[in-house]
Amino acid sequence: MNFQLTEEHLAVQQAARNFAQTELLPGVIERDMHQQFPHEQIKKMGELGFMGMMVNPKYNGGGMDTIAYVLAMEEISKIDASASVVMSVNNSLVCWGLEKFGTEEQKEKYLKPLAKGEMIGAFCLSEPEAGSDATSQRTTAEDKGDYYLLNGTKNWITNGSTASVYLVMAQTHPEKRHKGINALIVEKGMPGFTVGKKEDKMGIRGSDTHSLMFTDVKVPKANRIGEDGFGFTFAMNTLNGGRIGIAAQALGIAAGAFELALKYAKERKAFGHYLAEHQAIQFKLAEMATKIDAARLLVWRAAYLKDTGQNFVKAAAQAKLYASEIAQEVTTEAVQIHGGYGYVREYHVERLMRDAKITQIYEGTSEIQKMVISRELLRV
Ligand code: CAA
Repeated sequence: MNFQLTEEHLAVQQAARNFAQTELLPGVIERDMHQQFPHEQIKKMGELGFMGMMVNPKYNGGGMDTIAYVLAMEEISKIDASASVVMSVNNSLVCWGLEKFGTEEQKEKYLKPLAKGEMIGAFCLSEPEAGSDATSQRTTAEDKGDYYLLNGTKNWITNGSTASVYLVMAQTHPEKRHKGINALIVEKGMPGFTVGKKEDKMGIRGSDTHSLMFTDVKVPKANRIGEDGFGFTFAMNTLNGGRIGIAAQALGIAAGAFELALKYAKERKAFGHYLAEHQAIQFKLAEMATKIDAARLLVWRAAYLKDTGQNFVKAAAQAKLYASEIAQEVTTEAVQIHGGYGYVREYHVERLMRDAKITQIYEGTSEIQKMVISRELLRV
């Protein structure tokens, strides 16, 4: 693996850093406080090509690799993890899934506007009684000939109210368990589809997380992704890649908190010396930086394996497991270094600490990552 970033990678990283500083930082505290979705900012991210970074240019994408994507995710997440989760779901779960497994018609109709950020997508797997246990889908897609009749409820759906396109997993053949699940493209506005309550979350409060209700929604057969019964495999494969994006998000949250703590330690005096002159703080900074570097290497390795067509399932789960754990640790230490100031909104680190927690939960909890890693370890 080559650790030298290309000119293009460096340009993408710089563009994301500039965008985060100039467009996301102003107002990030207020958006978090009032649970305001970053509409304007996401629109601009679409215009700049951040919403379909890895999609082939013939479908309006940026044609970039996964390394470029994780570099951008890290920079955006340093400042605003609410914006980066919207970006992550759109890129890794929705665009990637459609490009890899969708029909030409589906790509023309849905992928093209999604890749430009003109539409936002949502990935709908979780249910009130099927979070980690994703094979136990209760939502049903009854085969009615030329359409499916969709009934059920989805929970904790990122982009729940702002999306226009929803990839919904639903059970068609319960007797076949996970092999009977289908993935369907559902459009906002289809009769019988309603967006439910918005969750009042601990972190990533600028993103919109909703429950969704489907009552006798007629979804055309042409909106099924892949063969009959392909839905669970679709979801698992899509999540494998999605985990690299969330690992990069966790890395960015940790790196953002670290940068703030380092700056503060060089500016703030206690006992007649700058905090950075106290060995207790130096040791904290050294440990934080080492964990961040280790996480970054895991994220880049997973991205590299994916880009080079190798098996990246274990590497992606390891990157997400580790990056999300150190995001917890590093953000907590960043608050500690800030002392009382760390506990108030103005200094940003308390928000990053709250945001870090979700990275251990969504796109598979830490326990799910360990299941995935051990499955791969025990495979042979
Ligand atoms: N990649 C590819 N295939 C996989 C896989 C993976 N990582 N993990 C499991 N599978 C396949 C298995 O090979 C098996 O297929 P076959 O029957 O054809 O061999 C099938 O899936 C079922 O596997 P298991 O028998 O092991 O099923 P299980 O119930 O014991 O475990 C699980 C499955 C891995 C725990 C799975 O349910 C899972 O990943 N759960 C977590 C779901 C999740 O991540 N949800 C997040 C929601 S999306 C989200 O958060 C987005 C957002 O808004 C930010």
